[in-house]
Amino acid sequence: TKQQTWSQRFESALHPAIARFNASISFDIELIEYDISGSIAHAKMLAKTGIISPEEGEQLVEGLERIRQEYRQGLFHPGVDAEDVHFAVERRLTELKGDVGKKLHTARSRNDQVGTDTRLYLRDQINQIRQQIREFQGVLLDLAETNVETLIPGYTHLQRAQPVSLAHHLLAYFEMLDRDWERLGEIYQRVNISPLGSGALAGTTFPIDRHYTAELLNFGGVYANSMDGVSDRDFAIEFLCAASLIMVHLSRMSEEVILWSSQEFGFVTLKDSCATGSSIMPQKKNPDVPELVRGKSGRVFGHLQALLVLMKGLPLAYNKDLQDDKEALFDSVKTVKACLEAMTILMREGLEFRTQRLAAAVEEDFSNATDVADYLAARGVPFREAYNLVGKVVKTCIAANKLLKDLTLEEWQELHPAFAGDIYEAIAPKQVVAARNSYGGTGFEQVRQAIQAARSRSQS
Ligand code: ARG
Repeated sequence: TKQQTWSQRFESALHPAIARFNASISFDIELIEYDISGSIAHAKMLAKTGIISPEEGEQLVEGLERIRQEYRQGLFHPGVDAEDVHFAVERRLTELKGDVGKKLHTARSRNDQVGTDTRLYLRDQINQIRQQIREFQGVLLDLAETNVETLIPGYTHLQRAQPVSLAHHLLAYFEMLDRDWERLGEIYQRVNISPLGSGALAGTTFPIDRHYTAELLNFGGVYANSMDGVSDRDFAIEFLCAASLIMVHLSRMSEEVILWSSQEFGFVTLKDSCATGSSIMPQKKNPDVPELVRGKSGRVFGHLQALLVLMKGLPLAYNKDLQDDKEALFDSVKTVKACLEAMTILMREGLEFRTQRLAAAVEEDFSNATDVADYLAARGVPFREAYNLVGKVVKTCIAANKLLKDLTLEEWQELHPAFAGDIYEAIAPKQVVAARNSYGGTGFEQVRQAIQAARSRSQS
């Protein structure tokens, strides 16, 4: 095996299995472009502060850009002997530029380097995920717009409660995603702090300019304490919290689509482009997409847990345990992005709402019972009294296998003299929904305003 960068201090070679165990190159290669950007900023700073000469600075930048090209052209394949992406790049730089390449690591440690790389990576990923969220929200808004007056049973305890506008139901998810979008924006502020220049843990003897590298890399600030700078992973944990919440939201939506597509609910049909079949049961059409999203949420929650446990016993400052943050982070990012993409496609073109079934569903239950009580309460009957009376009516209707709309006007008036002919209109599903016109409610007028407000919010 090739020599390690640090082999001079050692008597004999690393055991090959230990070399593999120790190496992170197989996964931290993902950071290579950020590592190069961070190194370029560092090289420029070394030149600007006179720690190296301007010519040396230029040589380093040139070599680093060349490695970037090699990588993009698929020509850079560092092996396990490189240990990690940082050594791999530095080694290649020295191959390309000779002794000047060996100056790059002046006033720097892999500890502040990897922290910088990870933050640069996460910044980019957060921006991409926020954009995906906006796209998904747009799909939900389009769907809401065409379904303001489509009614769907609303549930509590998964029991029919009160009918709602399908648009209102979809807008609930818009709101969850809006918080996700905002949360990621807030977290971005804390991801966007530069640890570069913290050195191994204690700072450096060289007259570096941390603010200059931070500025070159578009960081919003620098870590005030070098020991915190190299060992803080709060930003990664915060991101995993936000990622977990996104997955909670996608998983809840998935669960509903799965229920809705069952024969028992029958609210949606899955289009062929987003459904799958069975190997044995010829009739099957399965909701694999939302099932996978629901399932994959578990791994993101797991990664959050893993990172919390990884951190909790670490003494200051850097410990190799920290190398293990990367797979958790990378896998979470990939999972969230893949799930957002799949759900966006599913909601945009994978579902057909069975509007006749939906319309029939809201006709055939007692989900307008609250409206009978409200009817009386609006006519001066104390609500609790009205509620008790309607409870009895529901009980007798169920015994007689009737719905509320089947009662005759005489029967209504026997129950209470306040009932008049307009009771039928008051308990018709459309009216029941339209009447819930309180702010944030499902009334059509409210929903139309909510869609408008959501549009302008998500376009700002
Ligand atoms: N590959 C390492 C990581 O990901 C880089 C930092 C190594 N630092 C060290 N002192 N061994 O954390």
